[in-house]
Amino acid sequence: MKIQELKDIFPEGLFEGEVRFMEPMRSHTSLRIGGPADIFAVPRDLSSLINIHKRLRKNGIPAFPLGSGTNLLVKDGGIEGAVISLSFFRRIGVLSQDSEYVHLAVEAGALLQRLVHYAVENGYSGIEGLAGIPGTVGGAICGNSGAHGYEMKDALVSVEILNKTGSVKKTDAEGISFGYRSSGVLSDELILDAELKLEIRDTEEVSKKVENFLRMRRESQPVWEHTAGCVFKNPPGLSAGKLIDEAGCKGRRIGEIEVSTLHANFFINKGAGTASDFVRLMEEVGLRVKERSGVILEPEIKIVGRDLAHG
Ligand code: EPU
Repeated sequence: MKIQELKDIFPEGLFEGEVRFMEPMRSHTSLRIGGPADIFAVPRDLSSLINIHKRLRKNGIPAFPLGSGTNLLVKDGGIEGAVISLSFFRRIGVLSQDSEYVHLAVEAGALLQRLVHYAVENGYSGIEGLAGIPGTVGGAICGNSGAHGYEMKDALVSVEILNKTGSVKKTDAEGISFGYRSSGVLSDELILDAELKLEIRDTEEVSKKVENFLRMRRESQPVWEHTAGCVFKNPPGLSAGKLIDEAGCKGRRIGEIEVSTLHANFFINKGAGTASDFVRLMEEVGLRVKERSGVILEPEIKIVGRDLAHG
């Protein structure tokens, strides 16, 4: 679809929020990589979000929900259709509480680290191991983020989802099949908010655990660089980082993408890196690991978008 046609579908002032066209996705990903999204919509409230979604559906335009772009590689040709940013959906609040447990209502665009911080401040226990994981709560539910034996699903009671037909439905956590870094949330579904259940504990105790996990992460992962987190999933019983390290890949570089010398399962964008170099490095690393150990690595990061058109 041509830009003008898209602009006709989304004339200015139609919704509360913003709609941009040909928005560079490198400004919205932790890797600082990604070509332009045809449409980049930033709804300000739920009714605007639902209306944008409806308009997209009516015109057969695919919608891609964006959290904070941290586990994501957007290809150099950008994203066909619309990216919907949830940056206005960040509320965290208490639904109910007794002497043992608290139930929280959390909007999908809330940063996971804001939630962890909120839990520390109030002595809520159950997500300590998620300390330091970048991204939003919606993204963490979709990919069942986890570390140190904690997983997002363990704190989840229910989620509200906007499905592809445009209706909002509430689903209990038991109704979603979670796996290692995966969930049964479909790619054309959009998580709006979630109910979490955490245990009420001593603030000091929760805080100590979180500090410890943060320290471990700072020591073993390149947290200050432009990365998308772990690139490959851990094969059952093994560590992808260790396998990549043993295959001699630390420091290997294609263009401006480099395998971290600190933790080999992180690829760093050293500057103006491209998605095609990132994918080539993934292929090279995958091949070396297969040759060295016979293990086939599977991507953990989500790869979306189109290749750059040539000619
Ligand atoms: N190791 C190496 N070389 C490396 C990296 C790791 O020898 O370059 C060794 C470590 O020394 C350690 C073992 O491999 O003995 C495991 O490493 P680590 O403790 O760092 O854990 P991991 O299995 O590599 C997983 C998750 C991380 C999560 C950490 C901490 C995956 C793919 N990785 O890493 O999650 O932060 O445990 O719990 O599940 C992510 O999901 O994006 C992610 C980074």
